[in-house]
Amino acid sequence: MLSAGKGRLSAMAMSRRDFVLAGAAGCVVALAGCAWTPRNAGTQDATDASRGGGRAGSSGTSTTSSASPSTDGAGASAQAAGGTLVAVFSWSGNTLAVANRIVEDLHADLFRIEPAVPYTSDYDEMLRVAQDEQVAKTLPRIAAGVQNWDKYSTIYLGFPTWWGHLPQIVKSFLSEHDCSGKVVYPFNTHAGSGFASCLSDIADACPGADVRDGLSLRGDSVSSSTSEIDSWVSRNA
Ligand SMILES: Cc1cc2nc3c(=O)[nH]c(=O)nc-3n(C[C@H](O)[C@H](O)[C@H](O)COP(=O)(O)O)c2cc1C
Repeated sequence: MLSAGKGRLSAMAMSRRDFVLAGAAGCVVALAGCAWTPRNAGTQDATDASRGGGRAGSSGTSTTSSASPSTDGAGASAQAAGGTLVAVFSWSGNTLAVANRIVEDLHADLFRIEPAVPYTSDYDEMLRVAQDEQVAKTLPRIAAGVQNWDKYSTIYLGFPTWWGHLPQIVKSFLSEHDCSGKVVYPFNTHAGSGFASCLSDIADACPGADVRDGLSLRGDSVSSSTSEIDSWVSRNA
């Protein structure tokens, strides 16, 4: 269930409090779709709290684990080709909450995409780092890869919108995991931009994959979106 995590609830609070959705005057990157501007500096306390809850190894759910254990777990429970994997990157917990619900619905395996060098927990610094990575087209090293990747034919790929795009760490993941021949269901959370350019980023990064309709939710509405998540998952089945 979309249960109770203190960190996740804080993450929802972050989405509400930290993002100004009206007007794009302060936005450094042109965003497709809805205007999104990051809140001004100096308000990281809620973000820091939410980060703590969303990090690897700190989740209270049984389906979530840190990079190495989740890799092992994913490999161990994939029975044969045709398996379903939920692979997610989540900095502050919103997208992870969606991932956990999908895992529950499908009894799928969960893999957390994480950088080898952990990201900062500071919100403003994270904005800068993410933008620098995007401008420089950096592909940060991922902490671990999926074992037995070939045993999965369906990948649910979760991520937040970052500066209107797929986070570079997710592109790193896709560059190391060949999705050709697999069905990919994208899902994401955001603070107003929706998928923006994320779907075209996925299409670019996943040649040969069968990328299906995605699910995009506002980060601050995840806790009230359980039935929407369930409906989307059942439509895909
Ligand atoms: C570095 C960074 C960049 C972001 N860029 C956008 C953006 O371009 N558009 C948007 O709507 N939200 C943006 N957000 C807000 C996140 O997409 C939103 O809070 C999301 O729900 C966070 O998901 P997570 O908790 O799984 O990390 C950004 C947040 C961060 C930290």
